[in-house]
Amino acid sequence: MKTMRLDKYLSLTGKATRSETAKAVRGGEVLVGGIPAKRADMQIDPDTAEVIFRGERVTYRQFIYILMHKPDGVVSATEDGREQTVVDLLPDDLLRIRPAIFPCGRLDKHTTGLMLLTNNGELSHRLLAPARHVDKTYAFSVKFPLSDEDEAVLESGVDIGGYVTAPCRVERDADAEGSCRSGRITLHEGKYHQIKLMMEARHNQITRLERLTFGPLTLDPALAPGEWRWLTPDEVRALETAGE
Ligand code: URA
Repeated sequence: MKTMRLDKYLSLTGKATRSETAKAVRGGEVLVGGIPAKRADMQIDPDTAEVIFRGERVTYRQFIYILMHKPDGVVSATEDGREQTVVDLLPDDLLRIRPAIFPCGRLDKHTTGLMLLTNNGELSHRLLAPARHVDKTYAFSVKFPLSDEDEAVLESGVDIGGYVTAPCRVERDADAEGSCRSGRITLHEGKYHQIKLMMEARHNQITRLERLTFGPLTLDPALAPGEWRWLTPDEVRALETAGE
């Protein structure tokens, strides 16, 4: 059986620091299996222990996986001196969890949509590794209509400042006049500002960009911009497989 000290367990879940746990234990405010804990350093099994801290059931997860609908105007960083970050949108007890939660990959400040946040550095690294880059689909709008030639060139690869993009998939939507100013693009790689630069290479300009998928994950329509939810166990398994 894997065991862990109660105070370490509570600090990993973000519920309390070690000194707060010691105080709560003295006050009889921590129950383990329904019985008040006598010592903050008692050993518990983190996977099965039923821990109640100040009346609240505590859930332990070895790793955190969060699916967020990133809103416009928020940067995908852990901290930023001036701008609000995706991590700032999480509640305080999640911010205390160690290892700390960070965004897996980046979206531009004005790109909205699916953002994965985790504290599993190793899986994130594997998902973002160029050799294993998972597919990502974005919905886009552009300033000027995209021609058949634009679609063909974008799909086969364009020069974005010394780098020729890998083949990708573009689907255009026609408006009432038959012009295509929106659609979806699926990339098998992820270069900085890639879609913005690809459209600029075609003398066009992105006016809206929203990420719809990241590997096996899909943007949850139930999440409004700024909202998040835990990944389901099936989604976590699918993500682990995508990173293999
Ligand atoms: N490509 C971009 O240009 N911006 C993003 O945020 C993601 C992909």
